[in-house]
Amino acid sequence: MDNFNAVKWKAGMLTLLDQRKLPKESIYLDYDDVKKVADAITDMVVRGAPAIGIAAAYGVVLGARKAYADHGNDWRDHIESDLQYLAEARPTAVNLHWAIKVMREYFSDIENDPEAILLAAAKKIHQDDIDANHEMGRLGASLIQPNSQVVTHCNAGALATGGYGTALGVIRSAYKNGLIDHVYSSETRPWLQGARLTSWELQQDHIPVSLVIESAVSTLMYAGKIQWLIVGSDRITANGDVANKIGTYSHAVSAKYHGVKVMVVAPVSTIDMTLETGQDIPIEHRDLAEITDIQGIKIAPENIHAINPAFDITPAELIDVIVTEKGIIEQPNIEKIRSLYA
Ligand code: MRU
Repeated sequence: MDNFNAVKWKAGMLTLLDQRKLPKESIYLDYDDVKKVADAITDMVVRGAPAIGIAAAYGVVLGARKAYADHGNDWRDHIESDLQYLAEARPTAVNLHWAIKVMREYFSDIENDPEAILLAAAKKIHQDDIDANHEMGRLGASLIQPNSQVVTHCNAGALATGGYGTALGVIRSAYKNGLIDHVYSSETRPWLQGARLTSWELQQDHIPVSLVIESAVSTLMYAGKIQWLIVGSDRITANGDVANKIGTYSHAVSAKYHGVKVMVVAPVSTIDMTLETGQDIPIEHRDLAEITDIQGIKIAPENIHAINPAFDITPAELIDVIVTEKGIIEQPNIEKIRSLYA
């Protein structure tokens, strides 16, 4: 499995698998400029909260390389505007800001050329994420009963992370242990991460998967076909509210009604203890052409008013379990999140 890498460092450059082109084409793009990395994040070449954080960490290496080449030991004074630009690439995934903060912590100890130290730090962020995914896969799978059928939304797989995946990591581990019979992949309008990416990833691993449109998920739940909704997250607040791809909330409401369990799988780097509740999370609103057009063809009337939020908030009370690499939180609340975080 994972015979592709969404993010890799190769020959002194950041290489990203262009996820806008999948599954038709696997094209890798090379980056040696931090601002272009930021644009690649904004434009969805790389997407998924942990993968965005890892790409940003390598972006910091590229920014420091340029600042050092241009300004020598004064590089720290000349990297700030690039880091600001990078931090603004997408607003909801906290992993972006987390990775920049972690990289910054190395700045004060660097004496000369920053590249070697920062590259080692970025590689550590990358490897730690892969390790966390395997641990979350193990922990999450331990909660799944044999013969389960599950639904996932968006793509929280190897493509969205350093490798293996969060929600798809649990699904991969549970399938390997003979616990999951079938996966339903919810299409995920408008970027179709479920249709293009999750279906593709699971097919590569020969895990039985059916693609369904979002609005079919409740019907499958009603028919008793689904035991778990398993998703990733872009940001979890101190009280256990979860931001994830738009559509997650309605799946969770439906899951509650039908007695389907809800599992959110995310590394600790996705938890934002500075925000109390999901209402505080900045929600990205994207270009309206994403919903008025399909593959460049206008399908809505000219000048139609439209709204295109890319994420929604699922309140903690709808979540049965949050799985992190540091442990499982059942019925999340502020005390449980605090003690896990500590
Ligand atoms: O807009 P995207 O594709 O970046 O949104 C991704 C998601 O919502 C994922 O579910 C989330 O980042 C978790 S990825 C492990």
